[in-house]
Order: sequence, then C-alpha cells, then structure tokens
Amino acid sequence: MIIETERLILRQWKDSDIDPFVKLNLDEETMKFFPSTYARDVSEKLINREIERISKDDIGLLAVELKETGEFIGFIGLARPSYETHFTPCTEIGWRIYKDFWGKGYASEGARAVLDFAFEELGLEEVVSFTSRLNLASIRVMEKIGMVRDTDGDFKHPMVEDDSELKDHVLFRVRSVNG
Ligand SMILES: CC(C)(COP(=O)(O)OP(=O)(O)OC[C@H]1O[C@@H](n2cnc3c(N)ncnc32)[C@H](O)[C@@H]1OP(=O)(O)O)[C@@H](O)C(=O)NCCC(=O)NCCS
Repeated sequence: MIIETERLILRQWKDSDIDPFVKLNLDEETMKFFPSTYARDVSEKLINREIERISKDDIGLLAVELKETGEFIGFIGLARPSYETHFTPCTEIGWRIYKDFWGKGYASEGARAVLDFAFEELGLEEVVSFTSRLNLASIRVMEKIGMVRDTDGDFKHPMVEDDSELKDHVLFRVRSVNG
C-alpha cells in the first residue's frame, strides 16, 4: 500500500514512525483543534489500529514520508467514523502534519493523491471531510483539493464536549466524477 506524489510517499506504518508520531500528537499547537493531546500509549495503539485497517481494506491513515529526506512528517488518509452523525456512514479524509512542515503544500499534495486513490482504486462514490469551524488551515486544504462545503451540513461533533469551542463543525464533500 503505497501512494507516491512529487514530494511525498504515503505508506503503511513502520516502527521508526512511532517516536515522531508520538511527538506529533503531544504537540499542543498541532493538536489545538482536538480536545486533547494524546499520551504515548494512545498513539501506539492508534498506529496498530491503522496498520490493521490498511492491511484489511486499504482504508486507513497513511504515514507520510518526505521523499527528499525520508523523514516522517505526519499522516493523511481515509477513515470510517464509528459514531453516528447526519452524514454517516461515510468515508472521511483527514490529515495531520508536524508544524515544522506546515505551509509547504504537503497536506494538499498528499490529500489530492488519496482522493484519486479513493475514487479510482477503491471505487468510492463520495468522500467527506470535516473539522472545527475554527480550523481555517484544514478548511483551506479541503477547498484546495476541490471539496465543497455542504452549507446544510454543519453539525455538533458528538465526540466533543458540549461546552467546548471546538464543538461546531463544518462538513465538506467531493464526489467521484463517475459517481
Ligand atoms: C491542516 C494541516 C494538515 C495543513 O497542512 P499543510 O501541509 O500546512 O497544508 P497546505 O500547505 O497544503 O495548505 C494549508 C493552507 O492553509 C492556509 N492556512 C494556514 N493557516 C491558516 C489560517 N490560520 N487561516 C487561513 N488559512 C490558513 C495556508 O496558507 C494554505 O493555503 P494556501 O496554499 O492557499 O496559502 C496542518 O495545519 C495541521 O496538521 N494542522 C493540525 C492538525 C489538524 O488540524 N488536522 C486537521 C483536523 S480536521
């Protein structure tokens, strides 16, 4: 399971990703739009869960490696939310890149390739993405990769505390040209 772009390799996880993934999820700036950072054991469990998901049906969060240096810089990939909202069941695309690498177009470059994979290889009809309405960088990535905001789609994320400023989410969608 490998997706290659001009500057990135998106692939199954390796043992050497564990430490930089733990660092990514402990970074408060990177995790600003999530209810909390993740402790090491949570990150380790997440990697194991994604390895299993990717092996099973190619739907998972892929480790992102910079071709030029071989460094792990974050993840981009597909997920199927386990909770219920007005648009589930669905396939979601998501991303998290370490802050040292922001603003270079990496998330958009990798996400475009993941969308191509979702439509051409997996034959999906639609992919959605959502984030806190405050997460403007992530919303910009959605726009840059051709996703369109569903203006009726705003929702309160069921996994976020009711009194959190992160509760209100926006929903973006993109459909396969064949779908
Ligand atoms: C969202 C994230 C993955 C973007 O990664 P990236 O590699 O920097 O993304 P790109 O460079 O492809 O695009 C980012 C775009 O957002 C824009 N942007 C960044 N911060 C912004 C802000 N505060 N307000 C508006 N736009 C912003 C950038 O200018 C760029 O747009 P442009 O190319 O039109 O100038 C990264 O910021 C991140 O990991 N954030 C923390 C984790 C997260 O929130 N994940 C998403 C959860 S749904």
